[in-house]
Amino acid sequence: MARGCRALPAVLALCAATWSCCAAGRALERDQPFRPPPGWVLAGRVSPEHDVQLTLALRQRGTARLTRLVRAVSEPRSPQYGKYLSVEQLRDVVQPSPATLMAVLKWLQSHGVEDCRSVATLDFLECRMPVSTAERLLPGAEFHRYVKGQRSVIRSPQPYVVPEELAEHIDFVGGLHRFPAERSVVSRAWAKEGMESRGQRAAFHLGVMPSVIRKRYNMTREDIGVLPNNSQACAQFLEQYFHQADLAVFMKLFGSGFPHRTEVDHVVGHQGQGRAGLEASLDVEYIMSTGANISTWVFSNAGRHESQEPFLAWLLLLSNMSALPWVHSVSYGDDEDSLSQAYLQRVNVEFLKAAARGLTVLFASGDDGAGCRRVPGGNHTFRPSFPASSPYVTTVGGTSFKNPFMVTAEVTDYISGGGFSNVFPMPDYQASTPVVAGMLALINDRRLQRGQPPLGFLNPALYRLRERGHGGALFDVTQGCHLSCLDGTVQGQGFCAGPAWDAVTGWGTPNFPLLLRALTAP
Ligand SMILES: *[C@@H]1O[C@H](CO)[C@@H](O)[C@H](O)[C@H]1NC(C)=O
Ligand SMILES: *[C@@H]1O[C@H](CO)[C@@H](O)[C@H](O)[C@H]1NC(C)=O
Ligand SMILES: *[C@@H]1O[C@H](CO)[C@@H](O)[C@H](O)[C@H]1NC(C)=O
Ligand SMILES: *[C@@H]1O[C@H](CO)[C@@H](O)[C@H](O)[C@H]1NC(C)=O
Ligand SMILES: *[C@@H]1O[C@H](CO)[C@@H](O)[C@H](O)[C@H]1NC(C)=O
Repeated sequence: MARGCRALPAVLALCAATWSCCAAGRALERDQPFRPPPGWVLAGRVSPEHDVQLTLALRQRGTARLTRLVRAVSEPRSPQYGKYLSVEQLRDVVQPSPATLMAVLKWLQSHGVEDCRSVATLDFLECRMPVSTAERLLPGAEFHRYVKGQRSVIRSPQPYVVPEELAEHIDFVGGLHRFPAERSVVSRAWAKEGMESRGQRAAFHLGVMPSVIRKRYNMTREDIGVLPNNSQACAQFLEQYFHQADLAVFMKLFGSGFPHRTEVDHVVGHQGQGRAGLEASLDVEYIMSTGANISTWVFSNAGRHESQEPFLAWLLLLSNMSALPWVHSVSYGDDEDSLSQAYLQRVNVEFLKAAARGLTVLFASGDDGAGCRRVPGGNHTFRPSFPASSPYVTTVGGTSFKNPFMVTAEVTDYISGGGFSNVFPMPDYQASTPVVAGMLALINDRRLQRGQPPLGFLNPALYRLRERGHGGALFDVTQGCHLSCLDGTVQGQGFCAGPAWDAVTGWGTPNFPLLLRALTAP
C-alpha cells in the first residue's frame, strides 16, 4: 500500500497531509515530533541497499514489581535497603514474555531480518538491515540522510507503524526520528566565552583547577579513594572526545596537593579521531578531581552508526554489562516535549533498572534559558529537560524543575510527593555534575570500606536526610521554577509550588565533610 501511494503523485500529496492513509498498522510514537535541530540539512533519500541499525524496545514484564523493588532497595528505612540486583536478577524481573519474543522474532524473520543482537536483560534488540527491508518492516518509514558539517545521520521524517498484532509487544523503535542531542549542557560561562582553542582552555582552567575545587568543597588530602574495586564514569554523547594525553597534562599541571590518577581506565565505545572537546575533557578532569584516585570510565558514543541514537545506545550498553561503575555522570539533555510518551516512559524504566542495580545516575539539568517554551499567542510554559526531569535520576544544577503534567508526575509520588528535579544546586562558578559525581563516588568508597552498600538511587536517601534536617550537608531539595519563565506570563504558577524555594538563600555549595558524614551515618 505504501508503494501504491508513492507511485501516484496525486495520492502522494494526500498522503503527505494525512499520511496515515499509507500505512496500515499501529503508530507507536504518534506524538514523536520530527524536528531536525538547527543546522541539519536534508541530503536526499538513502539508497535501498544501504544498511540501517534499528533498536527495538521490547515490551517488558514486571515493571510494577521493578518499581516496588527500587523503592525497597533505595529507601534507607527499608529492610531491603542496599540489596541491589545483579544484571541476571534484573533480567528475571523485566525480560519480555515468551509470547513477545516469539512474535517479534517471527515478524523479523518473515522480513529476512537476521542480524540482530540482544542485551543481557533481553528487552532490547538491535538489528541491522538494508533500508529497503526497514521500509517494508515499518510501513510509513522513509530513510533520508541529514548532514551537518562532517556529521551525518539517517532518519525518517515520516512516522512508522508496526503491524497491529505487534503493537502490544514493542514499546518503540529507535533510530528513526530522534536526532543526537544538540543542546550542550556545558555551563553558560563556557558557552558564552566560546572557548575552543587550547590556549584559551588552559587559561580558563586556571580558575577551576582541581585544588581550587577541592578547597571549595572542604575536601582534604585524605579525601581520596582507596578501594581498588570502586569506580566512577562519565557518559558523553556529543561529538567530542577527551584525550588521554590532555588529561595527563592537566592532572600533572593542576593536580598538586592531593593523590590522584592521571588516566582513564576504561573507554567504552569508540573515540573518534577529531580534536578533543572542551566539555568532554572537563567532565573527566572534574570527576577525577573530586573523585580523586578512583578508577574512572568514559562511555563515549563517538563514531556511532549514522542511524543510531547515541543516548539509546548507552542505555543498551548499561543493560548489557554486568560490571559497571557505581556512579555515572551524564552530559545529556533533550527537551521533554521533543520526545514521545512511549520513549519517555521506557527510558524511565531503564533508569529504574539502573536504580535496582544500585547505580547512582546524575544528570545535569541543562542550560538555563532553554527551559521556557514560548507558546505563540498563549502563555509560556516550562520546558523540562529530559532525562533531568525523570524522577528516577538525580539532577545536578539549578535550572530544572518538574512539570506535573508530563510523564514524571504519575511516578513521583511514592518517593517524595514533592519531586527531586532540583537536588543539587549549581555552584556559583559552574562546575557541576561530574564534580558532585566524584564526591558521591568517594562517599561510596567510604561506605564500601564500612561494609555499607553503595548509595544507589540517591533521591529517597536525600529526601530522608532532608526530613531529618542534616543542616549544612544538603541544600534545598525541592521543586524549582525556571527563571526564564518567571516573568508573570507563565500559566499555572502552581509549577513553582512545593517546599520553599529561594533562588538566593536556598542555594549553597556542598560541604563535603558534612555530606560524607550524613551519607555514611548508620
Ligand atoms: C551484548 O553483549 C553480548 C555479549 O558480550 C554481545 O554478544 C552482544 O552483541 C551485545 N549486544 C549488543 C546490542 O551490543
Ligand atoms: C589509590 O587507590 C589504590 C587502589 O585503587 C590504592 O591501592 C592506593 O593506596 C590509593 N592511593 C593512596 C595514596 O591512598
Ligand atoms: C570491594 O573490595 C572489598 C575489599 O576486598 C570488599 O570487601 C568489597 O565487598 C568489594 N566491594 C564490591 C562492591 O565488590
Ligand atoms: C494564560 O494564563 C492566564 C492566567 O492563568 C489565563 O487566564 C489565560 O486564559 C491563559 N491564556 C491562554 C491563552 O492560555
Ligand atoms: C568549610 O569548612 C569551614 C570550617 O568548618 C566552614 O566555615 C565553611 O562554611 C565550609 N565551607 C563550605 C562550602 O561549606
